[in-house]
Amino acid sequence: MIGVYDSGFGAITVLSHLLKELPNEEFLCLIDNKNAPYGEKEKEVLDKIITKNIETLIDKGCKIIVIACNTASTFVSDLRKKFDIPIVAIEPAIKMVYDNDKDERTLVLATPYTIQSEKFKNLFYQYGNDKFILLSCPNLATLIEEYDYEKLRTYLKELLTPYKDIKQVVLGCTHYPLIKKELQEFLPQALLYDGGKGVSLQTKRVLVEKGLLHTKKRKQHITFIFTNGKNYQEKFLQALDTYKKQC
Ligand code: DGL
Repeated sequence: MIGVYDSGFGAITVLSHLLKELPNEEFLCLIDNKNAPYGEKEKEVLDKIITKNIETLIDKGCKIIVIACNTASTFVSDLRKKFDIPIVAIEPAIKMVYDNDKDERTLVLATPYTIQSEKFKNLFYQYGNDKFILLSCPNLATLIEEYDYEKLRTYLKELLTPYKDIKQVVLGCTHYPLIKKELQEFLPQALLYDGGKGVSLQTKRVLVEKGLLHTKKRKQHITFIFTNGKNYQEKFLQALDTYKKQC
């Protein structure tokens, strides 16, 4: 079983790629809606929450964990020291931009926690340059969870109008690809980058390397667990279906 982990609907934008790359696997998605949002929390608080959720996925029998949350991914080095299981973590697609067109002005959108994190700074020193504009988006993940079109539009208008001519945008939070259409209203010329495909390919590489890939044909299976104790499985499967069609 592959453990997939996020604070909410962001899991969908990674899961959709994992399903494409790994046709014979079983997936267990832990959605930590009890503690969402992550992006505005303190390090010590997040550290405890994330460690506990990884423990849960290990206890449930996962063979690998995919952190489908850029904010939680900033803890991956510590998590790899704490746990023996392979852990793959998404990161903002700065390298994709570097490989594609590093001389074009690029806007990077992510949660406040991700932008100020050590892990993001290291990634940025490695592949970033002065063409990048880093923009933290407080509460945007929550607005996406609640999805009120008018409220979201007002937020995006204020945030993005100064960048309306930008041609490259990194979606550095897994929730953001869910509102690609709404983002393009304010960033009409932008090519949008996200790390969903990259992290899925990396997951496949690790599974192969560790001899853990399921190669025998079998039906894909997805189960969700929600930390607030309620069951939103149908809602999430529906969101997954909608997202798969648009990407
Ligand atoms: N989806 C998450 C991310 O990629 C977290 C959003 C949140 O809970 O603030 O950062």
